[in-house]
Amino acid sequence: MSTADIGLIGLAVMGSNLALNIAEKGYTVAVHNRSPGRIDEFVAEAKAQGLDGKTIPKYDLADFVQTVKAPRSIIIMVKAGKPVDDMIEQLLPHLEPGDAIIECGNSLFTDTQRRFDYLKPKNIGYLGVGVSGGEEGARHGPSIMVGGSKEQWHNAEAVLTAIAAKFNGESCCAYLGEGGAGHFVKTIHNGIEYGDMQMIAEVYGVMRDGLGMTAKECAAVFKKWNEGPLNSYLIEITGHVLDAVDAESGKPLVDLILDKAGQKGTGVWSAIAAQQMGVPATAIEGAVAARSISSRKDERVAAEAVYGKPNRAKTDVTLEDLEKALLAGKIVSYAQGFAVIAKASEENGWALPLATIAKIWRAGCIIRSRFLDQMSSAYAKGEATNLLVVPDFVTIMKDSHPSLRKVVAAAAVGEFPMICLSAALSYFDSYRQAQGTANLIQGQRDFFGAHGFEIVGRGTDLHGTWPSTLGK
Ligand code: 6PG
Repeated sequence: MSTADIGLIGLAVMGSNLALNIAEKGYTVAVHNRSPGRIDEFVAEAKAQGLDGKTIPKYDLADFVQTVKAPRSIIIMVKAGKPVDDMIEQLLPHLEPGDAIIECGNSLFTDTQRRFDYLKPKNIGYLGVGVSGGEEGARHGPSIMVGGSKEQWHNAEAVLTAIAAKFNGESCCAYLGEGGAGHFVKTIHNGIEYGDMQMIAEVYGVMRDGLGMTAKECAAVFKKWNEGPLNSYLIEITGHVLDAVDAESGKPLVDLILDKAGQKGTGVWSAIAAQQMGVPATAIEGAVAARSISSRKDERVAAEAVYGKPNRAKTDVTLEDLEKALLAGKIVSYAQGFAVIAKASEENGWALPLATIAKIWRAGCIIRSRFLDQMSSAYAKGEATNLLVVPDFVTIMKDSHPSLRKVVAAAAVGEFPMICLSAALSYFDSYRQAQGTANLIQGQRDFFGAHGFEIVGRGTDLHGTWPSTLGK
């Protein structure tokens, strides 16, 4: 008998939390997992949370599919990559025209587009959905970025809207565009997430090694910042991470954690997408590079032995400078991220709604922050796509870029790495200057390759008369 409103396959932490969230919102969810043991564990969890009445465990795939009301919406929450393709193939024989697969992992948007194109002629809908907010978010309200088959989106709309986080009563779930649009937006969300995290880490480095602050003192500062313009989930959790004490040693936990950051690929994908479309996203690229450098611990240890310890004389940078620098850096990073989204929208014909994207990032997701509300209003007014020229943000940048400058300059002198914040500052300085230096690049290109240049008033594709350097 078909009694479930929706089906969900893949009961690892994210999948089971999503299923419990769906059940809690009053929808009946059929669940399935490759290993039956995990289904048993889920059943116990659902029972413990009083949600067993709304969950239907199914050990057989065909039986599972039959349990879901047609036209079916079936969420798959398996590892990105081949497991998704395998799952699609396993499901296909059991599906009927009009049904939809809703893939909620961190998939590469081009894979999502390919799967969407593959299933379309079979009349099977494919929704590539970005879900942000980690385990907690999945259970209590994530931000949900939907892309893919619009018709089938409407079948799942009520459930997905209900389980998403709410900001001032508005659901942080929206349909953004066809094909890979949802996963593309999630990828850029993660690129911005990398930028935010790296900039916070760079500022923490100055606090710890320049201002000589303890982890506890740093925690207090982040907690205070969380009450101001930097208010955001990442600033909030930074306060908690810095505050945590290791039970075994009694020392601040953060001081014991090895300084090697992991990454699963979405940051790299966003940097690649930006580069491929010719959109500068230096803050995101810097953040990805910083993670890669961090992971080369042995090389760093060896290089420090060669150059000696960084000469970190006490800095005259203040906490207020650091707060403003972070704000300015963050605005540049978001400006870059949104510019990447705008360009992808144009190239793929997605018509991505920038105001809506900023809106559904206001709650639930990892980059949720106070200023996303301001950003969504700016985009709703149809102001320029680059935030750096949107009036409200111009005001903030005018007030904060001198601090970013001071912090980056002090970091250079004090031998602090600032890949991300310095990239943000250089982008800002490049973007806001009418006269750059690419005239020289054009001259060089013409010199060695006759690539041509433009002289205003005289024409394009002009050439210089250059001396020969051969035989010298
Ligand atoms: C989110 C997160 C989540 C996850 C990423 C980042 O929005 O909930 O972005 O998707 O944390 O996979 O992971 P890495 O830092 O390991 O790349």
